[in-house]
Amino acid sequence: MKIVVIGGTGLIGSKLVNKIRESGHEVVAASPNTGVNSITGHGLADALKGASVVVDVTNSPSWEDAAVLKFFETSTRNLLAYAAAAGVGHHVALSVVGTERLLQGGFFRAKLAQENLIKISRIPYSIVRATQFFEFVKQIVDYSTEGNTVRMPPALIQPMAADDVANALARVAMNPPVNGTVEIGGPTQFRLDELARLDLAARQDLREVISDPRGRYYGIEVSERALVPDKNAILGETRFETWLTQSAARPPSAQPQPVSVAVATREAESQERAS
Ligand SMILES: NC(=O)c1ccc[n+]([C@@H]2O[C@H](COP(=O)([O-])OP(=O)(O)OC[C@H]3O[C@@H](n4cnc5c(N)ncnc54)[C@H](OP(=O)(O)O)[C@@H]3O)[C@@H](O)[C@H]2O)c1
Repeated sequence: MKIVVIGGTGLIGSKLVNKIRESGHEVVAASPNTGVNSITGHGLADALKGASVVVDVTNSPSWEDAAVLKFFETSTRNLLAYAAAAGVGHHVALSVVGTERLLQGGFFRAKLAQENLIKISRIPYSIVRATQFFEFVKQIVDYSTEGNTVRMPPALIQPMAADDVANALARVAMNPPVNGTVEIGGPTQFRLDELARLDLAARQDLREVISDPRGRYYGIEVSERALVPDKNAILGETRFETWLTQSAARPPSAQPQPVSVAVATREAESQERAS
């Protein structure tokens, strides 16, 4: 089987490409860095020639409301059109658990638009909705930081390791389409404020976490169970505490870095690439 991973150079994409390759299938890592662009269409026809499966693990360079919606709508329309022309028989996409409960956020409106385009297309599909990656917890914490204070609601969250996301996606991609949605999550539920404290402590970050029922998840008001998957979700094995001790690459830092810095950096990088 030839499997094309769009976004195959990203956090999840690069892990997924390795897992598919190890299982003996032909795999193409497609992204602007490898000459394939799902927005302009550049390189898509060649990449998809002879492919049985496309896995979409792209992400938008900008998370600004209008930009992220435009990214996922344009990218998904292009992928579906080129995949149909190439006779691809399975479209797999990575989305987020609870998307319909998080529509206050432009990012989630964009992910829902992506899902809906896939559902109305003629290509058999599998949508995999994952919970928040362990690797993303720092960004969630940074977003809710003001000075040295992090204000977090005590909502439940069931995060998972990017490795476990890639494992689950690989299994879905190598099996027949489900024509529906599969939920995946981590092995343990936490409260958001508790998770933030664990993450900061592991990085020897001195910010103080305040539990605040009016606090927000990434700027969004969340109900207690908005972020957790239902009971049929497939659960990864990696525990957050194990992952924390294993991620030795994490430089200790007591300095809060607001997410606006991270987003601005991504935007600057993408503008650099475009110019
Ligand atoms: N963060 C979370 O906790 C979470 C939870 C559930 C689901 N998800 C979903 O997981 C997906 C992947 O996330 P990630 O963290 O792995 O993303 P990432 O590391 O930011 O990688 C994004 C990938 O998209 C590619 N890309 C960007 N613009 C593109 C374009 N025009 N054409 C083709 N490829 C393009 C990038 O290619 P270059 O390297 O060439 O720029 C890169 O390979 C996202 O859709 C996100 O919604 C995330």
